[in-house]
Amino acid sequence: MDWCFMSALWYLLPVYVAFHFLCFIFADADLTLLRASLIGHRPETTLRGLVVWVTGASSGIGEELAYQLAKCGSRLILSARREQELMRVKRICLENSDLKDEDILILPLDLLERTSHEEKTQTAIQYFGRIDVLINNGGRSQRSLCLETSVDVYEALMELNFLGTVSMTKQVLPHMTQRGSGSVVTVSSVVGLAGAPLATGYSASKHALQGFFNSLRTELTDYPKILISTVCPGPVQSQIVNNAFTEELSKPVATVGNQEHKMPTSRCVRLMLVGIANGVKEMWIAQQPFLLFYYAWQYAPTFAWTITDLLGRKRVQNFKAGLDADSAYFTKPKTS
Ligand SMILES: NC(=O)c1ccc[n+]([C@@H]2O[C@H](COP(=O)([O-])OP(=O)(O)OC[C@H]3O[C@@H](n4cnc5c(N)ncnc54)[C@H](OP(=O)(O)O)[C@@H]3O)[C@@H](O)[C@H]2O)c1
Repeated sequence: MDWCFMSALWYLLPVYVAFHFLCFIFADADLTLLRASLIGHRPETTLRGLVVWVTGASSGIGEELAYQLAKCGSRLILSARREQELMRVKRICLENSDLKDEDILILPLDLLERTSHEEKTQTAIQYFGRIDVLINNGGRSQRSLCLETSVDVYEALMELNFLGTVSMTKQVLPHMTQRGSGSVVTVSSVVGLAGAPLATGYSASKHALQGFFNSLRTELTDYPKILISTVCPGPVQSQIVNNAFTEELSKPVATVGNQEHKMPTSRCVRLMLVGIANGVKEMWIAQQPFLLFYYAWQYAPTFAWTITDLLGRKRVQNFKAGLDADSAYFTKPKTS
């Protein structure tokens, strides 16, 4: 009997290992999040009825968050600078969900105008009576080489991505500690964990967020029902490249390539919502081979630096040749 059991184990073990290996190779999220999405205890529909405040809701990931949250039945506060775009997003939310007009509050807001954040928060709380989830999503990226980039651009990246997010969190958090529950979910990036050429300031701002929220989570251990979660997406389809900072504050990005090779926004957002519903503290969301980078940077940094140098050099060459740095990752630089 023992022998039978041992030989069964002997044959099943490779199947078990192969299964996990295949899951890993085809995964588009870290294994904790992937497990939650496949066999999670709580589907994203458990967000029904919650009041969710989304910043950067006028485009890209934030816009898609609004659509999927509306379908889940969450009540929404939509913020960004462009009110017209927020009204468009609200209209589409209402067309595709059971929500009523009063279930969605449009609250235009500039993350850089920190003095306005207290009043905006009070408006949101007065309107719905509470905020259950704050999704710090608004932000901008960067496409420029450090040697050519003005310090003003670094300041602007930190002001927007880091201090804007800290300011919003500091306004909403006392309300959550008072109630003893809530979630603060912040969209960081793969470059919040790793490094990438052409994004020194952007990566620094996202690393700053990682440090801030990892420390804040530990400060809040007396509030076990408050979730502090960071989301680290790899490349996702959105307007992020069009809106990126360059060498100078007022200079737009020269080349924006096709975004089709990136993860669909809807998939990224679905995984985010599953993660929020299941209380996942850090989410890695990226298609392969990008997801392997997270594991390399986390568990084998020396190897990761070598690989990043190899691919990074190519990325810089492509950028200097006037190609889109993202879609041109594996493209030969122009020779003429
Ligand atoms: N797409 C990716 O590949 C990717 C990967 C990793 C992380 N992320 C992160 O995902 C988040 C969303 O980006 P996205 O990809 O969806 O890009 P996006 O399409 O450019 O959306 C950015 C959003 O941020 C808002 N925003 C920009 N400046 C703002 C300001 N001063 N005040 C308030 N809102 C502001 C924009 O709205 P207004 O212009 O109307 O203000 C817009 O709604 C960002 O934090 C980004 O760093 C994206």
